[in-house]
Amino acid sequence: MEWTREKRYLPYEKWDVKTLLELQSQAARSDYQLHYHIRPTSGLLNDPNGFSYYNGRWQVFYQAYPFGAVHGLKSWVHLTSSDLVHWENLGEAVYPDTPLDSHGAYSGSAKAIGDKLFLMYTGNVRDENWVRHSYQVGAWMDEEGKVTKLETPLINSPEHVTEHFRDPQILEHDGKYYAILGAQDKETKAGKISLYKADAVTGPWQDLGYVDLPDMGYMVECPNLVFVDGKPVFIFCPQGLDKNVTDYQNVYPNMYWVGESFDFETGHFETKQKAPINLDGGFDVYATQAFNAPDGYAYAISWVGLPDMTYPSDKEGWANCLSQVKRLSLKHGRLLQKPVKAMKSLRGVEEDFTGDLAFDVGAQSELKLTIKQGQKGKLLLAADSEGKNCIKLSFKTGKHARLMVDRGECGQAVNPDYGTSRTVKLPAGEDLDLRIFVDHSLFEIFVNGGEEVITGRFFPQNGQTFVKMDSGVDYQAKTWRLKDM
Ligand code: FRU
Repeated sequence: MEWTREKRYLPYEKWDVKTLLELQSQAARSDYQLHYHIRPTSGLLNDPNGFSYYNGRWQVFYQAYPFGAVHGLKSWVHLTSSDLVHWENLGEAVYPDTPLDSHGAYSGSAKAIGDKLFLMYTGNVRDENWVRHSYQVGAWMDEEGKVTKLETPLINSPEHVTEHFRDPQILEHDGKYYAILGAQDKETKAGKISLYKADAVTGPWQDLGYVDLPDMGYMVECPNLVFVDGKPVFIFCPQGLDKNVTDYQNVYPNMYWVGESFDFETGHFETKQKAPINLDGGFDVYATQAFNAPDGYAYAISWVGLPDMTYPSDKEGWANCLSQVKRLSLKHGRLLQKPVKAMKSLRGVEEDFTGDLAFDVGAQSELKLTIKQGQKGKLLLAADSEGKNCIKLSFKTGKHARLMVDRGECGQAVNPDYGTSRTVKLPAGEDLDLRIFVDHSLFEIFVNGGEEVITGRFFPQNGQTFVKMDSGVDYQAKTWRLKDM
């Protein structure tokens, strides 16, 4: 089937139920399917949206195109949780069904206000010449999950930006509302973050100009401002960023910038950091959404998938997933990302992982290890019984300490043009602490208590459920098979 533009933008009601049910059952049956991560019921999932706390529960939505593994007409699918680990899928919440979002209910955020959840997102509209118009729109969701959209835009695009103006994050500060948005400046075509202010969420919204960060490539997508241990942190996706500024290997990176203070009135960002830092050391993290929760912590969740890339599950009519939720803190000016406490509730029986014999952990597992300093060796993950197909972790914990993760020979190739391995530097001469999660076709490696996270998809052949450590390495390890969420 050819995915023509017409087909990708066909209104949802023109699709028949049978096609959708078949796609859903095909996705559910896939060997690659995720069992304790948020995954699309059918079709394509991309950015997390509206990550928030409301009505006594955690809320998250994802960008969805339910009818195939392509970027088509986008809507929001809603999930809630009591512990940030077990998510219940409540189905479609925001349809692209008004003149202000006719070609996609694009990414946005949410905030509990009074007894409702306010959603602020980008309405993507194409005119008869297929020229894009971006509206920043609002909607109220009630406790029953009923969404009522506002009839007029909250923000019309200002003169100084191109049609690339989207992904509002709504914030509250000193009794006022603020929003930051990804923007492309009309004159310079540079990537920017726009700042807006309002007394009431429904507006009027006032343009306060750009946040004073350096230009970031040609576009910034999905900007977030979150306060971590009292410091302002911008998390964003700069497209077309010069690799001399900060090196990256993915088609587009997801990066962060830690500051000392942020002035909500002038957009002045005081920082000691010289350049943005990669948020994830792996292959597939993008569009991370973070927010300050009422429990005092900042949490983040990411799309595991990248724009313009294809994945082997596309052939099965579904694509991508969300990461697990990560709790943020700071250490020496850098972000730490840790699994949330409730991840332990997925654990089955604890086993010691010893020796160099093939050890079967199943397709959904957690492995926690400490590798003594001053060594080098290899750990094979998701390996077949001969250790041939696997994800290869090569570590050095001595002088030039580093960890390399290679997914080049672990089943079907995933975007090999962008390289099959990623390397992160480690502190020299220290024990290496790893907490590794595998969920069928996803790995998330938390290094040294979250100083680095290395996330990636892989598409194994049958029977790749073994873990192997090189013989002679001095380490301690425990494993758990993990339950479905
Ligand atoms: C990022 C993004 C956003 C946009 C959304 C559309 O992945 O391109 O900028 O709002 O996806 O699905």
